[in-house]
Amino acid sequence: MEKVTIMSTEDLSTALGAEVKISSEIGVCPVTITAKNNENGIEWAKKTKESVNELLLKNGAVLLRGFTIEGAADFNTMFKVFAGDPLEYKNRTSPRDQVYENVYTSTSHPKDQEIHMHTENSYSKTFNRLIAFFCLVPPDVEGETPIADERKLFNYLQKETLEAFRKKGVKYVRNTIPGVGLDWRTIYQTEDKNQVNKYLDDNGIGYEWVGDDHLRIQWVLPAIQKHPITNEEVWFNHMYFGHKSLYDPMVLEFFEEKDLPFVTYFGDGSEISDEVIQEFKDFYKEHAISFPWQKNDFLLLDNMMFAHSRRPYDGKRTILTAMSQPHQFNLDLK
Ligand SMILES: [Fe+2]
Repeated sequence: MEKVTIMSTEDLSTALGAEVKISSEIGVCPVTITAKNNENGIEWAKKTKESVNELLLKNGAVLLRGFTIEGAADFNTMFKVFAGDPLEYKNRTSPRDQVYENVYTSTSHPKDQEIHMHTENSYSKTFNRLIAFFCLVPPDVEGETPIADERKLFNYLQKETLEAFRKKGVKYVRNTIPGVGLDWRTIYQTEDKNQVNKYLDDNGIGYEWVGDDHLRIQWVLPAIQKHPITNEEVWFNHMYFGHKSLYDPMVLEFFEEKDLPFVTYFGDGSEISDEVIQEFKDFYKEHAISFPWQKNDFLLLDNMMFAHSRRPYDGKRTILTAMSQPHQFNLDLK
C-alpha cells in the first residue's frame, strides 16, 4: 500500500475499511477511525496495523471507535497487534489494579480529583513509548481523558523557559509516608528493603530512610529527549505534574515541602516559578483535546508526543490501560 499519510482521507477510509477523520483543529483528536459495521477489533487490527502505526507516528494520537472488543482480554490482544507486548507497571506513581496480564485499570485515584497532564513514566529512566486506553465502562458523569500535543507545547513555551530546562533538567523528590499515597512495597513490588536499596543504587537514585516506612528519594533527568523513531526533540518529563503549585492548598498546609509525595524542581534544585507553570496551564487550557468516552473506545497515544490527564467523574468508570515499547532515557541530552 502507498504511504497512508499522503493519501486523501477518502482513499484512506477505503483502504482501511473504516471511516477515517484527520483533523488539525484545536480540541479535536488528530485521527479518529470509526468502524463501519462494528467489525471485530482484533481482526481489523491485524489487517491495518502498519497503516495505523504510520498515522500514529505522524499524528501522535489515534482514536478507534465502534469496533467489537470483548473486555480486557481482547484489549490486550488488540494492543499487542498494534504495539507489541504490554509492559509490567513498575516504579509506580499511580494506584492501579492489574486486571488481565499487563492490562491495568487506568487509575484508582479518587474520582473527585483531577489528574493533571503528564506523559507516562517520564520521571523514570526506563519508560514506555506507547500507551493505550480502553473504555470498558463509560463514566456516568464527565471523567474524560483530555490529551495534549507535547510537540505543540515545545513550540509554545517561551524560549527562555525551554533553554532553562534544557540546561538544568528536572529534579524529582519523592516521599513515601505511611498512610499517604503508595507504600514503598507497592511502588517497588517487594517486601525487602535491601532490594529497594539495591534498585535505587543501581539506578543512580539518591535515597534516605527518614523513618521506618518513610523513604525519600531524589534524582535528576533531562527535560528534553529525542524521539527514538522520528529523532525530533520532544518535551518529555514529569515537571508540571509534580510542581507544588498544583497541589491542593490543604495538602500544602499539612506537609512541609520536603515531605510532599512527589515534587519537582529545576535540576540544580532551584525553584520553578509560578510564571513558568502558568505557561503550561495556559497551553493545556487552550490545547486540551477532550471527548466523552464511548464504550469500546480505544485510544492509542505516542507517549512522547501526547500528554494525558483525567477529569473528575461521578458514578462508574472503567478505563483500562496498557503500555509498550520500553526505551531508556538518553542522559547525555540536555
Ligand atoms: Fe497516566
